[in-house]
Amino acid sequence: MSDRGSFDTNVVTLTRFVLEEGRKAKGTGELTTLLNSMCTAIKAISSAVRKAGIANLYGIAGTTNVTGDQVKKLDILSNDLVINMIKSSFTSCVLVTEENEEAIIIEPESRGKYVVCFDPLDGSSNIDCLASIGTIFAIYRKSSDDEPCENDALQPGRNIVAAGYALFGSATMMVLSTGQGVNCFMLDPAIGEFILVDKDVRVKKKGNIYSLNEGYAQYFDPAVKEYLQRKKFPEDGSAPYGARYVGSMVADVHRTLVYGGIFLYPANMKSPKGKLRLLYECNPMAFIIEQAGGMATIGDMDVLDIQPVSIHQRVPVVLGSPDDVKEYINIYKKHYP
Ligand code: F6P
Repeated sequence: MSDRGSFDTNVVTLTRFVLEEGRKAKGTGELTTLLNSMCTAIKAISSAVRKAGIANLYGIAGTTNVTGDQVKKLDILSNDLVINMIKSSFTSCVLVTEENEEAIIIEPESRGKYVVCFDPLDGSSNIDCLASIGTIFAIYRKSSDDEPCENDALQPGRNIVAAGYALFGSATMMVLSTGQGVNCFMLDPAIGEFILVDKDVRVKKKGNIYSLNEGYAQYFDPAVKEYLQRKKFPEDGSAPYGARYVGSMVADVHRTLVYGGIFLYPANMKSPKGKLRLLYECNPMAFIIEQAGGMATIGDMDVLDIQPVSIHQRVPVVLGSPDDVKEYINIYKKHYP
């Protein structure tokens, strides 16, 4: 790792890192171009998020998106930024975004071989109170030579070529995996570049934090109830787990990656399929967590093995430190053999 206290004249920027990885993989350069355009979109979103209060970007834009969330001005701006940057990179053919009901099929003259699923600004209920929000994305290769269509995005997460997220928190960080571990890049606002600060990040084997919206406790199934009971009143005399929940998936997953522990958005009586979306929330996060040595499950199956049936599909998700997730799976199996 570079010495962050002094001025490093040989910093590894995200652009440099992605270029080097692409070179090693002897690729065509298309993924490198795509990742760099994603990186530019994220820098622009970060800048908009940082000055939203001054530029009057807060507040409700007056519409609801396909999954029923209120759309804020920043959501629309972020969505447009990602779409435009990817389109102009000539690397992709199909885009799925939380903000558009249907997949976007890129015009023939601008097409490339990638399919990108993204949530341009996740955690939007946190925008107005300045809590952390983020951008999440997953990149797939188009799987057939047919005319591009929505079905190209219905691939299991196991097929992901690269995935990542940007967290707009106390600093802006981009976390990226191209299938060879997880690397974290912090945005240096002075030079407008993401700098590699944490290489090959590994999630702890076991943590001591659980994270979910416990306000829904009365709707939880018996497996979730039993798991939480064990965390609060451990039978082996160990210390109880701490509870942390921002309510912004990127922030909650990033904390889980860095500190360890478990994040849950399980199915419940009110949301029988959970709330979070498979294509652009659960799959990219599951990919990152697995690449960091963690696990991501729906209870009886790895998130990444699910065959999607629709682009805005929701799934339950439990992810984090491997020992914590295994403990949850064991309880789940006991209740649902
Ligand atoms: O899907 C949007 C989102 O804000 C996620 O970022 C977050 O994990 C979740 O919803 C929070 O949902 P709830 O308010 O039900 O806890």
